[in-house]
Amino acid sequence: MKNFFTLVAVIITFHSPFLTADVSAKIIAYNCYSCHGEQLTILYPSEKISKVQLTKILLDFKYDRKEVTIMNRISKGYSDNELESVATFLTTMEN
Ligand code: HEC
Repeated sequence: MKNFFTLVAVIITFHSPFLTADVSAKIIAYNCYSCHGEQLTILYPSEKISKVQLTKILLDFKYDRKEVTIMNRISKGYSDNELESVATFLTTMEN
């Protein structure tokens, strides 16, 4: 029985960070879609921006380095890591 709990603890420890990262990026992205449409195509119809560029834009919103009306408040609701993972999710998904 002790071994069983050890096994469960090991599985949780090694799997959950990855699962959590994936799920939360996708869930955060659904929030973005409500205003921007899927894949942020409304914002960037003609060019494909990189994960690094999008992460920078989101962090600029969060730390008030850009004058905006809404995105500053939205981005403050997420950690830097969450913003980076949603940027990765949005820029690496298939078009
Ligand atoms: C409540 C509606 C709303 C939601 C939800 C929302 N946005 Fe925005 N977004 C805006 C508005 C409005 C602007 C224009 C800038 C401003 O005034 O805040 C904008 C601008 C942007 C820009 C433009 C950057 C540029 O090039 O100037 C990016 C990128 C962006 N949003 C990404 C996101 C991401 C990623 C999410 C999800 C975490 C998200 N937005 C969620 C309303 C929203």
